[in-house]
Amino acid sequence: MSVPRSVITGVGSYLPKKIVTNDDLSKIVDTSDEWIVERSGIRQRHMVEDGEKTSDLALAAAKAALANAGVDAQDIDLIIMATTTPDNTFPATATTIQAELGIHHGAAFDLQAVCSGFVFGLSTADNFLKAGQFKNALVIGAETFSRLLDFEDRTTCVLFGDGAGAVVLQAQEGEGTIEDRGVLTAHLHSDGRHKEKLYVDGGPSSTQSVGHVRMIGRDVFRHAVVNIADVINEALVATNLTIDDIDWFVPHQANKRILDGTAKRIGLPPEKVVMTVGEHGNTSAASVPLALSVAVADGRIKRGDLVLLEAMGGGFTWGSALVRW
Ligand SMILES: CC(C)(COP(=O)(O)OP(=O)(O)OC[C@H]1O[C@@H](n2cnc3c(N)ncnc32)[C@H](O)[C@@H]1OP(=O)(O)O)[C@@H](O)C(=O)NCCC(=O)NCCS
Repeated sequence: MSVPRSVITGVGSYLPKKIVTNDDLSKIVDTSDEWIVERSGIRQRHMVEDGEKTSDLALAAAKAALANAGVDAQDIDLIIMATTTPDNTFPATATTIQAELGIHHGAAFDLQAVCSGFVFGLSTADNFLKAGQFKNALVIGAETFSRLLDFEDRTTCVLFGDGAGAVVLQAQEGEGTIEDRGVLTAHLHSDGRHKEKLYVDGGPSSTQSVGHVRMIGRDVFRHAVVNIADVINEALVATNLTIDDIDWFVPHQANKRILDGTAKRIGLPPEKVVMTVGEHGNTSAASVPLALSVAVADGRIKRGDLVLLEAMGGGFTWGSALVRW
C-alpha cells in the first residue's frame, strides 16, 4: 500500500563564532566550572555578538540543509521556524528567511513551543506534507537564547546557548511499513498548569518588554525525565517497535543528567545517545537539529537508521518523533 511519508533529505546547522566557557561565566556570576559540569554536563556554549540576529543563524543553517539535501531553495514551499527569540515580535522570522532565500511562493511562519519547538515543527510539517498541501518543507530551530538571560541569575544563565539547525523534509511515497524512510510517528503534548516553572517574565501584552528566563530547575528536572520517557514509549507503542530497534537517540540537549536519567529509564545504552550539551549548552529549539547535524556529519547516523527524537520545554510542552533516516 502506498502512503505519503515526509523524508528528511538534508540537515544543516550553524553556531555563532563566540565561545563562552564556564570559566568565562565564573568571572561575571558566582559559579564555577566544577559546579556547572557536575550539575549539567555543560562545558561551553556559543553566544551571538552584538548585532547578530536569530535570522542570521537560521539562514546559515537553512542554506547548509538545502546544500546537504541537494535541493534548490525554489523547490521549498513551506518554512516552519521554531524559535522563542524572533528578530521582531512580528513579522515571523520565517518570512525573513523566506525572503533571504529568494522564495516568493508557499507559506512561512514561526512556531512557539520553546525547547520542544523543533519536534513540534517537524510534526506540523509532516502533517502538511502528508495532507498534500505542501511538497518540500524547511523546518528550522534557531535561537539567540542569550538575549533572554539574566546574567545576574546563576541558576539559569549558565545553562543556555545560541545556535541553529535545520532539516529539509520532502513528501515521498512509502510502502506503509516501518521500513519506510521518513517520519514514522510523532507525539506532542502540552500542560499549561506548569507555566510558572519555566517562563520569561516579559512580553508585548504583559510588560511591553522582552523579559528574562525564570525557572524552578528541580521541578523542571523531575517532570522532564518522566514526561520524556512516557512520550518515547508512546512512539514505540504506536509503531510496534522496542527500544532495541532504535539506532540513535537524539534528545533535546538540556542537561546531561536528564539525558542519562532518561536513557536509563527507557533502557537505551549510552553509546546510542547523541550528546552535544557539553559543547552547545541548551540551545532550546535549535538543540535537536544541531545534534542531528553533528551526528550525520560525523557519520554516526546513516541512511536507513531508526532515529528517535524528543524534546521538552516551557509550558510544559513535550514530544517525540521516530524517523527512518
Ligand atoms: C538547574 C539545575 C542544574 C540545578 O541543579 P540542582 O541539583 O537542582 O541544584 P539546586 O537548584 O538544588 O541548587 C543547589 C545549590 O546550587 C546553587 N547554585 C545554583 N546555580 C548555581 C551555579 N550556576 N553555580 C553555583 N551554584 C549554583 C543553588 O543556589 C543551591 O545552593 P544552596 O543549596 O546554597 O541553596 C537542575 O535543577 C536542572 O538541570 N534542572 C533542569 C533545567 C533544565 O534543563 N531546564 C531547561 C529545560 S528545557
